[in-house]
Amino acid sequence: MQPELGEAVSRVLASGQLLLGPELDAFESHFAGWCGRGAAVGVASGTDALRLTLTALGIGAGDEVIVPAFTAVPTAAAVLAAGAVPVMVDVDAETAAIDPAEAEAAVTERTRAVVPVHMYGRPAPVDELAGLGVAVIEDAAQAHGAAAPSGSASVAACYSFYPTKNLGGIGDGGAVVTDDADLVARVRLLRHHGMRDQYVHEVVATNSRMSEVEAAALSVALRHLDAGNERRREIAHRYRAAAPGVAWQRDHPRHVYHLCVLRTADRDAWRARRPFATAVHYPLAVTQQPGYAHLARRPCPRAEAWAAECVSVPCFPEMTDEEVETVCEALT
Ligand SMILES: Cc1ncc(COP(=O)(O)O)c(C=O)c1O
Repeated sequence: MQPELGEAVSRVLASGQLLLGPELDAFESHFAGWCGRGAAVGVASGTDALRLTLTALGIGAGDEVIVPAFTAVPTAAAVLAAGAVPVMVDVDAETAAIDPAEAEAAVTERTRAVVPVHMYGRPAPVDELAGLGVAVIEDAAQAHGAAAPSGSASVAACYSFYPTKNLGGIGDGGAVVTDDADLVARVRLLRHHGMRDQYVHEVVATNSRMSEVEAAALSVALRHLDAGNERRREIAHRYRAAAPGVAWQRDHPRHVYHLCVLRTADRDAWRARRPFATAVHYPLAVTQQPGYAHLARRPCPRAEAWAAECVSVPCFPEMTDEEVETVCEALT
């Protein structure tokens, strides 16, 4: 994408408008359309997309937010940054997604929201969480194309555009995507010092703007997203067909394979024997993280088992067929 990205960056520099301009407007409207939702609000990161959604919904000090114990730590960090307490609950052994029964068991009179994470790009149960009677906020950081459709129980889907994501920028970025016009207005206010009119601050807020350069780059990347997701699916399905006996994360028709993940009990030995690079997302459940373990309330053995056994194998659109074949041959 480098030539297209170079052109987009030059266009922004020549325009002289570097923040809150036409590139952000254009990206927001294209991305909302691509997601099939009413509006998107670009912000500085995926973490901020979650934090600002919580704050915009009035969730903060004294409130509890249920999150899966197996996720990227920013899911829980965003809740703390909003002033609320993350309550970690266990996940499903086959999908790595939040277990709705565990979430229900964790509800207290302080619970205000639940954040299902579409782990590795596989759709998490969203409508199954509606019965909790609290706001359902999707962490779609790894799931461009896998979030719940309009009309679901979800209030908003929060995206990250970290460069390695399925839709990645050339720096940090994030977005809140929703059909709720009040939420849109509120997040727009919160991302820009609480200002609607210049230097009139309606609410206390900070800065979480997405730059024009980032928005222009994301508009370029968005043009390649469908093809990229398709290629990721094709690669993952080739692996699964080549090694059906492997303990893969359970498939789903809308899985966008941000990561292609399997489980193995002898992880270090398994990784050492492969002629390709592997990674671990993530080696610890949130309940096991040094900075977060003190927040653990409930046992989360399935989350901890995922952390002990997960391995990510190469899966990105730029892989050649030959590289995919090399992985296929060495999976078992
Ligand atoms: C599941 C999940 N949630 C939240 C985030 C945070 O996104 P960002 O790094 O853009 O703040 C990430 C990405 O790192 C993620 O994978």
